[in-house]
Amino acid sequence: MKSPVNVAITGAAGQIGYALAFRIASGQMLGADQPVNLHLLEITPALGALQGVLMELNDCAFPTLNKIVATDDAKIAFKDCHAALLVGARPRGPGMERKDLLLANAQIFSVQGKALDEVADRNVRVLVVGNPANTNSLIAQRNAPNLNPRNFTAMVRLDHNRALAQLAEKTAVHSTRIRKTTIWGNHSSTQYPDLHHTLVDGKPALSLVEQSWYADTFIPVVQQRGAAIIKARGQSSAASAASAAIDHVRDWVNGTPEGDWVSMGVPSDGSYGIPEGVIYGYPVTCKNGDYQIVQGLDLNEFSRQRLDATHKELLEERDGVKDLI
Ligand code: NAI
Repeated sequence: MKSPVNVAITGAAGQIGYALAFRIASGQMLGADQPVNLHLLEITPALGALQGVLMELNDCAFPTLNKIVATDDAKIAFKDCHAALLVGARPRGPGMERKDLLLANAQIFSVQGKALDEVADRNVRVLVVGNPANTNSLIAQRNAPNLNPRNFTAMVRLDHNRALAQLAEKTAVHSTRIRKTTIWGNHSSTQYPDLHHTLVDGKPALSLVEQSWYADTFIPVVQQRGAAIIKARGQSSAASAASAAIDHVRDWVNGTPEGDWVSMGVPSDGSYGIPEGVIYGYPVTCKNGDYQIVQGLDLNEFSRQRLDATHKELLEERDGVKDLI
């Protein structure tokens, strides 16, 4: 039997945390032969609810669940963790301005970045889900100078999966037969879901759908899917967000299939004219536990404008938290 891997989840008693913990504990992220220790972090008032989650996890008697730590102390939760899924964040309250939300979350992610820096495994892989995910990831990264900056990522995989689902429905082809779709930029409504390199059953996606459907239906539907789910369900996406987080970490660790790529928010290395350091949604392939940004894709004027617009929003977010990075 392999030795256990320590996986930290913040906001573990929240909606996404509740969906995520059980799937990770049952081996769906790291495999059925990989035992896990779950390190669950919550704020103090939610510790009671977290105990309930812990009791339910134990009651599942998952073969892959080795041990659970439940705490309100980030340094205990992140101690020696190999993967950290930073989900917990402040939701937008009544009358709260976007910039107040940004600042409230910036505080959380700077504290957590420092704690990771101090106690996490030196190769910890960090996925930030809590919004604004790209900027929160940047804050955590900048507060963890002793960790590998490449290991701080943000989740755009839910948007990627939503794009696959929309295209699968439109072309009546299963999503497993769609390759090379990209979400560029920020996990927000400025993200750019790009089908210019996408293949459906080996054929260019844009030869199968009308340009007007792509520009006027597909792109806005993917960009605004989160709001549509809130309207329908009365709560934001949770199970699909947890599923995307599992896809993100699983592919990062185990690799992407030959001939395909996935979308991850990763620190830019300057690729596609995005300045170095910005945590930006890119097409990536993963191998041997590492990711590489896909190089050499042609960008037409339509794409270039959209890559720049979402980058501009990220710069504005960064300016709003400049004292913390
Ligand atoms: P939720 O409100 O149900 O749960 C959040 C949990 O985080 C709560 O239990 C809260 O007590 C906890 N929390 C707050 N501050 C914390 C801290 N400092 N340390 C530890 N825990 C803390 O929210 P939900 O639905 O689970 O969403 C979580 C976040 O994920 C939100 O920011 C949401 O906007 C974001 N999200 C991101 C997506 C993406 O694709 N990147 C998709 C869907 C949601």
